[in-house]
Amino acid sequence: MTTRIITVCNQKGGVGKTQSVGELATVCAATGKRVLAIDADSTQGSLGAWVGQVGKDATDFDIALLTDPSDLDGIREIAEGYDLVFIDTPGSRAQNDLVDAFLRVSDFVLVTTETDGMSLEPADRYIDELVAPAGKPYAVLLTKWDARRPRKEARARAFFEEVDKPVFKSVIRSYSAFADAYEDGVFVTSSPRRTVTAHNAASDYSKAAVELLSAIATL
Ligand SMILES: Nc1ncnc2c1ncn2[C@@H]1O[C@H](COP(=O)(O)OP(=O)(O)O)[C@@H](O)[C@H]1O
Ligand SMILES: [Mg+2]
Repeated sequence: MTTRIITVCNQKGGVGKTQSVGELATVCAATGKRVLAIDADSTQGSLGAWVGQVGKDATDFDIALLTDPSDLDGIREIAEGYDLVFIDTPGSRAQNDLVDAFLRVSDFVLVTTETDGMSLEPADRYIDELVAPAGKPYAVLLTKWDARRPRKEARARAFFEEVDKPVFKSVIRSYSAFADAYEDGVFVTSSPRRTVTAHNAASDYSKAAVELLSAIATL
């Protein structure tokens, strides 16, 4: 399998970028793929800090910190030996140059966004300004969706259809199991699922991972 680099981004914070990288990396590693997660966000709540809490040996994927755009020239060498490389990017406009550098070396881009009306326009603008110009295939992944509000998902899908932006069929529902996992320093997809909601939460990312793998398989 050739190495595929997947950047997960959105200028907004708290939209599930780090969670998505951690869960998708976990699911893909569990299928036997060699997975590296690159933490490009050195701020608090970063993937590196999270994995530091879990203990490096407890994750099925490797982790590397890379926050200097000038180090990106060597990324293909770092990526060698891995089937999949996920990049967790910082959510701040000030870091757009770094994100842009990652987008340019990526094979696929996943833009995570919440389904609230106020999140959609900024996500659309972000794609127009930063993601689309990089010229890489991309898709939107809807996250933190409150399943008690079915219309929100439908409206978000209609919005992105209107502006002609692809959206994954799978959607990540909002579950406190994610925040709990974060606090416990584990990933939902890797920890024993004692509750129905934790099972559902893990299943959402399993479906998203299947969709992602099929999207990059045709590249
Ligand atoms: N689907 C979800 N449902 C509920 N909480 C979530 C979900 N995804 C992420 N979270 C929580 O929301 C917070 C922010 O998520 P995070 O992945 O760190 O966002 P970002 O990296 O985009 O800033 C974290 O506490 C995380 O555990
Ligand atoms: Mg983050």
